[in-house]
Amino acid sequence: MSAATALATNPFGSPKSSKELPAYSTPLSIINSAIYENVNNIFAYNSFSNPELLHSYIKSWLQNANNTDDKFFKEFDIRSGAGLGPLGFIKSQQNSVIANPHTVSTIITPSYGLPFFYDALSSAKANILLNVGALNYNQESGSIINDYSTSLNFASSLNYNVLTPISNNEVSNLTSLSVVLSKFGLKTMNLFDSINYSNTIIKTPSSCSASPINVQDVTLKLSKLVSTPNPSFNEVLEKFNELTGAKLHNFHYSGNFENPKTVFVTYGSLESQLFNSFMEENSNGDVGIISIRIPLPFDLEKFIALIPNSTKNLIFINQKANNSNLIKSNISAALFYFNRHSINFTEYLYDSNFIWSPNAVSKIISSFTSTSIAASNSSQGFIYYSNDKSENIDLFSKLAISLSEDNNEINLRTKFDNILNAGTFQAQLSINNNNNNRNGNIISNIDTAEISIVEDVSILKNLNVLNTLKQNGTLIINTKENFEFVQDSIDTFVKGLNLSLNLLNQLIENIKLIIVKYSDGENFSIVNQAVFYKILGAQDIVSKIVINDPEFDRDDLPSILEKAFAEDLIEIENDSLSNLVKQTELDIENEKKEQEQEQEQEKEKTEQEEEEQQEEEIILPSFVNETSFVPNTSTLPKETTTNISNSTEISKILSFKESYGVNHLLRPDLPIKNFIVKVKSNKRVTPEDYDRYIFEINFDISNTPDLKYDIGEALGIHAENNSQDVQEFLQFYNLSGNEIIMVPNKDNNKILEARTSFQAFKENLDLFGKPPKRFYESLIDYAEDEEDKTKLQELISPAGAVDLKRYQDVEFYTYVDILKLYPSCKPSLSDLTTLIAPLKRREYSIASSQRVHPTEIHLLIVVVDWVDNQGRKRFGQASKFISDLKVGQELVVSVKPSVMKLPPSPLQPVIMSGLGTGLAPFKAIVEEKLWQKQHGMEIGEVYLYMGSRHRREEYLFGELWEAYKDAGIITHIGAAFSRDQPEKIYIQDRIRENLSDLKTAMIDKNGSFYLCGPTWPVPDITKALQDIIEADAKEKGIKVDLNAAIEELKESSRYILEVY
Ligand SMILES: NC(=O)c1ccc[n+]([C@@H]2O[C@H](COP(=O)([O-])OP(=O)(O)OC[C@H]3O[C@@H](n4cnc5c(N)ncnc54)[C@H](OP(=O)(O)O)[C@@H]3O)[C@@H](O)[C@H]2O)c1
Repeated sequence: MSAATALATNPFGSPKSSKELPAYSTPLSIINSAIYENVNNIFAYNSFSNPELLHSYIKSWLQNANNTDDKFFKEFDIRSGAGLGPLGFIKSQQNSVIANPHTVSTIITPSYGLPFFYDALSSAKANILLNVGALNYNQESGSIINDYSTSLNFASSLNYNVLTPISNNEVSNLTSLSVVLSKFGLKTMNLFDSINYSNTIIKTPSSCSASPINVQDVTLKLSKLVSTPNPSFNEVLEKFNELTGAKLHNFHYSGNFENPKTVFVTYGSLESQLFNSFMEENSNGDVGIISIRIPLPFDLEKFIALIPNSTKNLIFINQKANNSNLIKSNISAALFYFNRHSINFTEYLYDSNFIWSPNAVSKIISSFTSTSIAASNSSQGFIYYSNDKSENIDLFSKLAISLSEDNNEINLRTKFDNILNAGTFQAQLSINNNNNNRNGNIISNIDTAEISIVEDVSILKNLNVLNTLKQNGTLIINTKENFEFVQDSIDTFVKGLNLSLNLLNQLIENIKLIIVKYSDGENFSIVNQAVFYKILGAQDIVSKIVINDPEFDRDDLPSILEKAFAEDLIEIENDSLSNLVKQTELDIENEKKEQEQEQEQEKEKTEQEEEEQQEEEIILPSFVNETSFVPNTSTLPKETTTNISNSTEISKILSFKESYGVNHLLRPDLPIKNFIVKVKSNKRVTPEDYDRYIFEINFDISNTPDLKYDIGEALGIHAENNSQDVQEFLQFYNLSGNEIIMVPNKDNNKILEARTSFQAFKENLDLFGKPPKRFYESLIDYAEDEEDKTKLQELISPAGAVDLKRYQDVEFYTYVDILKLYPSCKPSLSDLTTLIAPLKRREYSIASSQRVHPTEIHLLIVVVDWVDNQGRKRFGQASKFISDLKVGQELVVSVKPSVMKLPPSPLQPVIMSGLGTGLAPFKAIVEEKLWQKQHGMEIGEVYLYMGSRHRREEYLFGELWEAYKDAGIITHIGAAFSRDQPEKIYIQDRIRENLSDLKTAMIDKNGSFYLCGPTWPVPDITKALQDIIEADAKEKGIKVDLNAAIEELKESSRYILEVY
C-alpha cells in the first residue's frame, strides 16, 4: 500500500500500542486491541483482497513487542482442514502445562472460511473463541459483502453462541464479553461487520483507551459469583452486565416503546446502527426497532418481552441468502409459542450487495408506516471521488485531520471500486456538529452531501454524483482540460460531462458548481482544501491546510491561494448555464421529433424491440460498488472509453507507452485472474467411428503456483477463431491483417486493447458467431446497393421476422456470412470492431481434485457439431478450438467459483447424477472422497448415477468408476444408457431402483444430491428426488409438501444443480 493510500484510509495512523488507541481509530483496531490484551493464543486466517484485514493490528503490535513469550500467534490460509493447526497446538499445550481452565485461544477468520473448520471444531474440546468478520464476495456484482448467514448456520450446527455488535461504541465491551464467555467454556463467536469496521475511522470511544473492561478481574469475580464451575450462557451474561455496568442484553429496543404500531427487527452491525440512528433523529413516530445483539442462543422469551402490546406489524429486515432462515424461524416460533398471533409478521428482504444509506433506511421505514421523516441536521456530509492510483487520494484525510483538531467529531469511510473507471476511490467524511458523543453514528453511504469533490472528471460519466448532493450543495470538479473562463468554454465543458437533461436541470436549480483547474503536486490538495473551507465559511483558511511535504514552506501558502482563487477556479453562476439547458432541451425536442417521424413510418413495433431498447437505457449508479480493500493494482490507460481511435493515435499510444499508461497484461480483465497453462494431454475418449467427439484434456499448471481451484469450480477458457478462417475473411474483406486497431476487452468493454486486425478477429471478435438483429439493422447505413438496403430493411421489419429467424436458427448465418450476402455493406475496420460481438469466455466444470492432482487440471468436453442447411459441418467455436489444441500449446484460463461444494462433514453421503459430459465435476468429487479416506477420515456413502447414450461408446470414465468402487470409495454405480435398447432408460430409473438406500442416505444421514449436465432433464430428475423424500415421509407417516421440500434442500445447499 502506498504512503498516500495508507494515509487516505487511516489518517490517524495505525495504533502503536494495544493499550492506548489514538483519538481516532477503526472499530476493527478496537476489537484487535481487546483480543490482544486478553487472549494468549491467536490463530489468524487470511482474507481475500487484503490478507491481513482482520488481524493486521495484532500482527504489528506483536512485531513491536519486546517480550512475546506469553503470546502465541500464527497466520494461516483458509483451506480444507482449517482449524487442525490450532487444535494441534492447543492439545500440545494442554498436555505440557498444568491446564488452566480459563485459558482461551482464538481463531480470527472471515466468515466464508468457516465451513472449512467444521471437522476440526466439531471435535474440539478446548475453549476456542471464534472472531469472525462477516466477509464474503458477491460473484454477480463483484462486490465485497457482509454475509452473516454462513456464520450463523455454522454456529448453530456446532452450538456456538453468537454476539454481534450493534453500535461502534460497544465493539470493545462485546469482544471482552466474548472472551469471558469462552473462559467459562462457553463456545462463543464474536461476529462483526468486517467491511465497515475496517474501513471506517471513528472517534475512539473514551472507554477504549485501554482494554476498558479488565477481563482478568471480571473473570475472577465472576467465578466466585456463579453457581457452578460450568455456568450457563445466561448466567455469565447477566453477571457480566451486573459487574461491569455494560448493558449488553440479547436485544436492544429503540424508538417508541409506549404505543408503536410497527416494530422493525434488525440484525447486522451496520443495519442496526443505521436504523437506530434514524430513531434518534425521528423519535416521535409510531415505530420501534429491536436490534438483535445475540442471535444465538435466540432467547424467545426475552424477544417477546420487547414487543409492545400495541404492535400490529413486525418487520424483520433480512438479508436474502439461500440459507438464512435461522433468525426468521426463531421470530416466528416466539410469536407462535407466546400467542402473539395477531401480529402481522413479514420480512423485508435485501440483497447481500444492497447499499445501505440513511435514505435507504428512511425509505424502508416510510414504506411500512405513516411516519413522517424529519430531515436530519445534526451532521454534515462530504464526498470525494478520485482515481484510486492518484497521488491526491489522501485529500479527505487531510481535511479529517484538520477538522478533528477543531473539536469536531469526524467520521471517515473509504471505499475502493476496482472496476469503475479502472479503479475509483471514494472517501466520505462526516462532521457531527452537535458533539453529542454519537460516535455510534457510523457512516457508510452518505446520500446527502453538502460538498462533493471530483478529482477525475471521467468518474462523472459512470456515476451519478449529483444524486448524492444536498439541495444547494456544492460540486467541485477538477479538470485538466485547457479551458478559458469564458462562457463558451464553460458551456463546452459542462456539455462534455454528458449529463442528462434531468441532471443538467438539477445542476442549475439545486447545485453550485465550481470548476477548478487541475494543479499538480501538493498544490492540488492545497487548492481543494482551501475551496472546501471557503464554502464552509471558515475563518483562517491558511492555518487549516494540511501539507504532507516536509520541505514545503508554509509561508508560500497565501500567495498560492491568492493566485488560485484569482486564476484557477470559477464558481459557475447558475443562470449562466440556462442557455445550455435550453439548447439541450431543443436538441432533445428535435431528436424526439425525428424519432416520432421514424416511428410513424414503422408503426408496429414488436415487444422484443421495445425490450431491447429498454435494455440499452443506462442508469448511472449513485454509489460506488465496493469491490476491494485496496486500489486496483493493474495500471491501465486512464481514459477508458470504447471509442475506437484512429491509427495515428494508436501508433502514438504504442510508441509512447509510458505517457499513455499503456501496460502489457496477460489479459487485462479486471475482476478475473488469468493464468497461462500448458496442454499436457488431449485425447479423444469416444471411438473414431462414433459420430460424437468427446475428449479429455489435461493441463499442466506446475508453472502457475497461484492457480488454485476447488471441487465443482469451472475453468474459463478464452477460445480463439480458426486462423485459416480468419485469413480467408481478411482476404475477402481486403484487409492485410497487420492494421493496428483498438478493440474492447472481452470481459470489460471499458478497457481497450491494441491488436492487429488478424489478432482481433482471431482472439477478440466473434466473427463466426450468430449476429443479433441489431447487426442487421446497423448494416443498413452502410449499404451502397439499394437492393441490399431494402432486403436488410425488410429483414428487421415485423414482416421479415420469419426470414430473420430462418437466417439465425436454420441457416445459422455468421457475421461473415451476412457480410458476404450483402457485399455492398462495407463497415470500416474500426466500425467492425464495435459491430461484431466480442468472443466470450466459455466455462467447463473441472474434472479433477487439486488435492489428488496438485499440478493438473482435467476437463471432459464434447465437441458441439451439426450440419447446416447448406450441408456444411458446423462446430461450436470453443469446444472445437479446445479439441484441436496440441500437447505443449499454451492457453489463457481463469477459474470460476461454484456453488458445488461437498457437505461440511465427510460422513454426509453424496448422491451424484451426471448426464453426458456433465459427469466431469463428479470425477473431482470422487477424487476428493478418496483423499479424505486416505487422510484417515471416515467417509459417508457415495452414489454415482450416470446417463449417456451408449455403453460401448460413451461409458465416460467407466473404468475409473469401477476402480473407485472396488477401492470402497463409490458405494454404488447406477449407469443408464439411453439408446442401447428400444426403450429409453434414464438415470431416474436407476435412482428409483435404490429408493430405500437413497432415502436413508439423503434424509436420515443428511446427504446432498448433485445434478450436472444439460438443463432439460432437470424436472424429471427432481421428480425422482421427490420420490425419495415421499418414500421416507410415507415410512415415517408424515405428510410433506414435496415442492417445498425441494426448495428447502436447495436453500440448504443439499440439492445442487450445475446445468447448462
Ligand atoms: N463438460 C462439462 O464440463 C459440463 C458441465 C456441466 C454441464 N455440461 C452440459 O452437459 C451437457 C452434456 O451434453 P451431452 O451431449 O454429453 O449430453 P447428452 O448425451 O445429450 O445427454 C446425456 C444423457 O441424458 C439423457 N437424457 C435426455 N433427456 C433426459 C431426461 N429427461 N432425463 C434423463 N436423462 C435424459 C440422454 O438421452 P437421449 O439423448 O438418448 O434421450 C443421454 O443419455 C451439455 O449441455 C453441456 O453444456 C457440461
